Amino acid sequence: MASLFMNSTKSILLFFIIFSSLQHLYVSSFEFEVGETKGWVVPPANDSKLYNDWASENRFRIGDTLRFKYAKDSVMVVIESDYKRCNSTRPVFFSNTGNTIFKLDRWGLFYFISGASGHCEKGQRMIVKVMAPEESSSGGGNGSSGSSGAVPAIVVLIQLVFSVMGSRIF
Ligand SMILES: *[C@@H]1O[C@H](CO)[C@@H](O)[C@H](O)[C@H]1NC(C)=O
Ligand SMILES: *[C@@H]1O[C@H](CO)[C@@H](O)[C@H](O)[C@H]1NC(C)=O
Ligand SMILES: *[C@@H]1O[C@H](CO)[C@@H](O)[C@H](O)[C@H]1NC(C)=O
Repeated sequence: MASLFMNSTKSILLFFIIFSSLQHLYVSSFEFEVGETKGWVVPPANDSKLYNDWASENRFRIGDTLRFKYAKDSVMVVIESDYKRCNSTRPVFFSNTGNTIFKLDRWGLFYFISGASGHCEKGQRMIVKVMAPEESSSGGGNGSSGSSGAVPAIVVLIQLVFSVMGSRIF
């Protein structure tokens, strides 16, 4: 009885270890802090492309989130033509809580602008490109991933753990 208990404890422990490493590799979504220490503000005049430069240096995947921190400002998602004209009259998404978490729930382009008068025109806007699932898993380009080879091994391992646990429990 005691050894059965030990065995299932071990299996459960193993399962959690594998599950958490799996989460780390795939399920894990990343939270990006927009503007990092500066937050979501009007960029300095000599650095008006601040946010687009930042966005183009990062790889965004479906499920990742963006955190915007700001005061007396707002975050809007708009369509492309409204982004180009800084037109804030019909946002697809709007938030002015000062601490907005936006989930990138699809691939493609997201157009962010500030809803505060005049801010978008001064460069407080950003295009975020979320990679298509094929793009993000192929490991193409010079991305930092490199875990694609680990997928089948982990799946096999999980199946193994389930079958071991299954045979003990049932
Ligand atoms: C913009 O100007 C500030 C102050 O003059 C300077 O410290 C900063 O390096 C400049 N940034 C860029 C991107 O030129
Ligand atoms: C912004 O969009 C609205 C709705 O389409 C339109 O009526 C308005 O003229 C636009 N403003 C500018 C400055 O383009
Ligand atoms: C990948 O890296 C190579 C060499 O470091 C470089 O020539 C190439 O332009 C990079 N490609 C991309 C998509 O960044």
